[in-house]
Amino acid sequence: MTAQPPIKHLLGIKGLNASHIQTIFETADNFKTLLNSPVKKTPALRDITIANLFFENSTRTRVSFELAEKRLGADIINFSSSSSSVKKGETLIDTVNNILSMKVDMVVMRHPAPGACMFLAKHIDAQIVNAGDGTHEHPTQALLDAFSIREQFGDVAGKKVVIVGDILHSRVALSNIYCLQLLGAEVMVCGPATLIPKHIANLGVKVSHNLQEALNWCDVANMLRIQLERQDQRYFPSLKEYSNLYGLTMDKLNRLNKEICVMHPGPINRGVEISSDVADSDQSIILQQVENGVAIRMAVLFLLGQQRL
Ligand code: CP
Repeated sequence: MTAQPPIKHLLGIKGLNASHIQTIFETADNFKTLLNSPVKKTPALRDITIANLFFENSTRTRVSFELAEKRLGADIINFSSSSSSVKKGETLIDTVNNILSMKVDMVVMRHPAPGACMFLAKHIDAQIVNAGDGTHEHPTQALLDAFSIREQFGDVAGKKVVIVGDILHSRVALSNIYCLQLLGAEVMVCGPATLIPKHIANLGVKVSHNLQEALNWCDVANMLRIQLERQDQRYFPSLKEYSNLYGLTMDKLNRLNKEICVMHPGPINRGVEISSDVADSDQSIILQQVENGVAIRMAVLFLLGQQRL
């Protein structure tokens, strides 16, 4: 059997196998231990320069990548499209090639266009990490979500995870489906029929339009926000009606005869897809997800930078 060449880019969970994910998790375990020690840093990527190119808004992902890069000792450049010459009509490739000519090794990119990272990977030499491309994929979010489930339950295999909300416009949903299935979890999507892609069952997921039924089935509920910025038409009558049917409240959790784990990739819209008391409850691991994001991103950058994935 010939050895697989190392993976150059992280463009999506599609393209990874279970063994890649285990390697990322084991590396993230070590980085989490480091992050919880007084030292917090390693010079593992001190010879690497990373450009963070954010063409779309972000809080968690941008800060998390930047912190991960600093903890690994990399040199970093931060770019945001709102304050750049993109506004003057420059193309994506011209923008990136200008940045790369300053000797950049790796690009972490968020972009509103699905496939933007794949496109870039075909046209430039640097390594690319997808930090979310439109409605397509958000691989490091899925990795940190699955890592958080593993931390909570000891294993992802055999767990039942329902992803609730705007599946149609969500890159988090698609990456989570791929990642959880690779690790042996069962996945259900739940939401109004208008926000569930028509043929999603072909991916091997269960589909429900009834939140209470989905909650009864699952061990984990991953609540997604309504992606109003990607919606060009009305998909439900009102946010109030959506919230009544698909918002996770303490009342709905109390109707279960078990305790489930509640997740959310953020940003959360309190009172819409999740009530404040649920978001802040002991069942919620939302802030653990954010904490784990730094260790996961350190692992991804380290393994790619050292060509060990
Ligand atoms: N979860 C996530 O991608 O959040 P940001 O949009 O704030 O990066």
